[in-house]
Amino acid sequence: MEIDRKLKAAIAARHSVRAFSDRPIEPAQIEELRRKIDSINAQTGFHFALCLDEPEAFCANKPHYGAFSNCRNYFALVAPKRGAGERVGYYGEMLVLLAQTLGLNTCWVALTYEKAKVACPVLENEKVHDLIALGYGTTQGVQHKSRDIKHVSNVTETSPDWFRAGVQAALDAPTAINQQRFYLEWLGDNRVRAKALLGPCSKTDLGIVKLHFELGAGRENFTWA
Ligand SMILES: Cc1cc2nc3c(=O)[nH]c(=O)nc-3n(C[C@H](O)[C@H](O)[C@H](O)COP(=O)(O)O)c2cc1C
Repeated sequence: MEIDRKLKAAIAARHSVRAFSDRPIEPAQIEELRRKIDSINAQTGFHFALCLDEPEAFCANKPHYGAFSNCRNYFALVAPKRGAGERVGYYGEMLVLLAQTLGLNTCWVALTYEKAKVACPVLENEKVHDLIALGYGTTQGVQHKSRDIKHVSNVTETSPDWFRAGVQAALDAPTAINQQRFYLEWLGDNRVRAKALLGPCSKTDLGIVKLHFELGAGRENFTWA
């Protein structure tokens, strides 16, 4: 499928970008991103939002890792407080990859932003899980260091090609502090199990990783166990 081919190219090209130019996002791209958000929200009941020209959330001078510069736009990933982490990761990463296909750059943000300054409504039972910084980067970012494929999966010489391709795409995924705390297991035939290991945001990471695996392996080749 054409769209999956584009998303796979986006997986290879994407790196976190934390410094943005002043160029405003094109109206046609805003429309496409909003359409995707509407379809995700209709499917999940989440309240993901696109916040444009709202620099406040990134103004705070926090001593955490990750320094943002000129971030004026972001996705706010608003979803139920409990039990939504993995799906926030999965659907949030759809927005990341779509943005990349449109020539935009992104960075997931769990810590280094000002929660009280997020410019969108949040219902009583919900919270802002993460932001995704968005804009035209001043650079395209750099490839992160990766764990060995054998540390994150049970891949061997006899594993099917689609499994290996899925794990490779998973290794390209963004994870919090680049921890890559996940394990992908081929159970024989067409069955695959994905597990989050202990670590901050590892449930969100798992959802991100599962989307990457699906695109890398091809959804027609396997089912999740
Ligand atoms: C759930 C999640 C939370 C993150 N939170 C932050 C953050 O608070 N601040 C930051 O600068 N980067 C954050 N990142 C970005 C990671 O540091 C980055 O994805 C990782 O180092 C891998 O680099 P890459 O995205 O360029 O491949 C986060 C990433 C994920 C997936």
